[in-house]
Amino acid sequence: MSATAHAPAVRRVAVIAGVGGYVPPTVVTNRELTSQLDTTDEWIRTRTGIVSRHMVSPGTATSDLAVEAGRRALESSGEHSVDTVVLATTTPDHPCPATAPEVAHRLGLGDAAAFDIAAVCAGFLYGLATAAGLVAAGTAERVLLIAADAFTTIIDPADRSTAIIFADGAGAAVLRAGTADEPGAVGRVVLGSEGGLADLIQVPAGGSRQRSRGIAPAPGEEFFRMRGRDTYRHAVERMTSAARQAAALAGWEMATDIDRLAAHQANARILTAVAERLGIDAERCLSNIAQVGNTGGASIPLLLAEATTSGELVAGHRLLLTAFGGGLAWGATTLVWPDLKTC
Ligand code: COA
Repeated sequence: MSATAHAPAVRRVAVIAGVGGYVPPTVVTNRELTSQLDTTDEWIRTRTGIVSRHMVSPGTATSDLAVEAGRRALESSGEHSVDTVVLATTTPDHPCPATAPEVAHRLGLGDAAAFDIAAVCAGFLYGLATAAGLVAAGTAERVLLIAADAFTTIIDPADRSTAIIFADGAGAAVLRAGTADEPGAVGRVVLGSEGGLADLIQVPAGGSRQRSRGIAPAPGEEFFRMRGRDTYRHAVERMTSAARQAAALAGWEMATDIDRLAAHQANARILTAVAERLGIDAERCLSNIAQVGNTGGASIPLLLAEATTSGELVAGHRLLLTAFGGGLAWGATTLVWPDLKTC
């Protein structure tokens, strides 16, 4: 046997090589919402931290947002090619087929493998784990991971507890095969779920449960519903515990080893509670919820793209990601931010 046959195999990991974000141009302020809903700018600011959000215009779909974010991530990576496209979304263009193949086609990515994953607001973390697994197995060399949601398309515009929070946007990352010691290498990803609490966040109609009844859905069943108080409590608990587990797997101490926390932008009060429990001061927390609201799965990659552009996130920063959403589903991971340009 040759000497190389005995050499320890170098573990292939997924390394972030590009990042991009996109929000649709229409901005909706709290004041504009007060003309349709029984709410106030002050209530929304103090309970959620949101000041304005972006919303798709009529006829715009999730793929339109995903294509823009994906294009920017590919440009950021400096190479317009991938062999796999993974799209995390709760608002696919159609119930069938998946939206990712259309996105890959519109980006001119040839016959790249393309599929959707559904993990609601934890979609980017589930997507990172999926991409990392594909790379580690040698199934993929370069993956375009996009998380995009036209969330307002499933929101009841008359429901004041959800219409003030959820918004539209997309974020994306290019992942290439590399080694664990490189900046950008995705650390171990912690994932979890609790399906016994599926009814906390749910769109009751439109799936096989309702369609097999053979009768039209009851009014409002096609809209997103959320039990806000319970969701709040579980979001804080799960994002905190997943973040702790991910940091421990990386051997990082909260007090000294984390330069930036990028948590799912669910609600500013949830973000404050998570950061306080973790012992991470506000200066180390990235946040854009005031301007973009809760953009579902897009939240974290959109935040990373914006923070890279603004310089709040720079090469060498040790970063902790944590997310929570419907399912319930959650996830967290760590990485050292690489030197990226944004477009
Ligand atoms: N404007 C004014 N009043 C509102 C309101 C609004 N937009 N939305 C709810 N209210 C009212 C309720 O009707 C209720 O009134 P009542 O006491 O007369 O019944 C009161 O405010 C308190 O409602 P509650 O739902 O208990 O408020 P809250 O402080 O929990 O805030 C949320 C509501 C939705 C903002 C909050 O529960 C939340 O942020 N939950 C988590 C949401 C989230 O992050 N989801 C995403 C996870 S991925």
